[in-house]
Amino acid sequence: MKDPVSYEINNKAPEEKKRFIQNLFDSIVPTYDLLNHVLSAGIDTLWRKNIFRLIDPVKGKPVIDLCCGTGDLSRLLDKNEARLFSLDFSMNMLRRGIEKNALCGDSVAADASRIPFSDNTFHTATIAFGIRNIPDLDNFIREVHRVIIPGGQFVILELVRPANKIISSLYSMYLGKILPFIGGMISGERIAYKYLSGTIATFIDPLDLEVMLEKYGFVSTTHHLQTFGVASIIICRRMK
Ligand SMILES: C[S@@+](CC[C@H](N)C(=O)[O-])C[C@H]1O[C@@H](n2cnc3c(N)ncnc32)[C@H](O)[C@@H]1O
Repeated sequence: MKDPVSYEINNKAPEEKKRFIQNLFDSIVPTYDLLNHVLSAGIDTLWRKNIFRLIDPVKGKPVIDLCCGTGDLSRLLDKNEARLFSLDFSMNMLRRGIEKNALCGDSVAADASRIPFSDNTFHTATIAFGIRNIPDLDNFIREVHRVIIPGGQFVILELVRPANKIISSLYSMYLGKILPFIGGMISGERIAYKYLSGTIATFIDPLDLEVMLEKYGFVSTTHHLQTFGVASIIICRRMK
């Protein structure tokens, strides 16, 4: 894999970065699920489940799971009886999700900043561990706003920087050294895991993200920190 391109929002070459990210995810698929669970000690599963204690029920509602990867959140949405659409631009991730029966609804290969659905289609849009990989965040948020119905919910699960200084310094060491080492050893793609941990350090602050969400018409944002503040579930609504 080529050297990573550094993360910036609204950068000058979002398409080039997207190609890099697409190739990156295509290349780590064989060990992606295993590493997810190893690197988070299985807690990522709990965080996804916690979403359902916080959101409006999705039973019978049209829902799009953006950046669905191999479908761990899609599978839970399906269990909650959503009418499910799962979108990702990595064909290898989608294939793996279908093989493991996690992508139970319709699977869509597309860029999350160009969602191939009409306005006002979905009751809920979700994205788990995907938003920090999207370089053209403005386009993405505008697109999600377009496809959600007025009053519909947008749910983001993402890794964030913990506020507590001690936890933050331990976490930085974990992200800088341990995660790329273990990720590299198991997947053979050290640069990919170095890049992915780097995006946590450089991604927009959740409160600035809230300002952006409001700029594009989302309201009532709530933040629900998980496990010592290393992840957050952010929920907002499209203004009615
Ligand atoms: C870290 S994985 C998360 C997968 C899954 N949501 C989960 O909970 O495990 C991020 C996924 O986002 C996808 N992705 C990143 N940028 C994307 C974009 N612009 N459009 C569509 N998918 C994208 C990648 O292909 C990858 O499958």
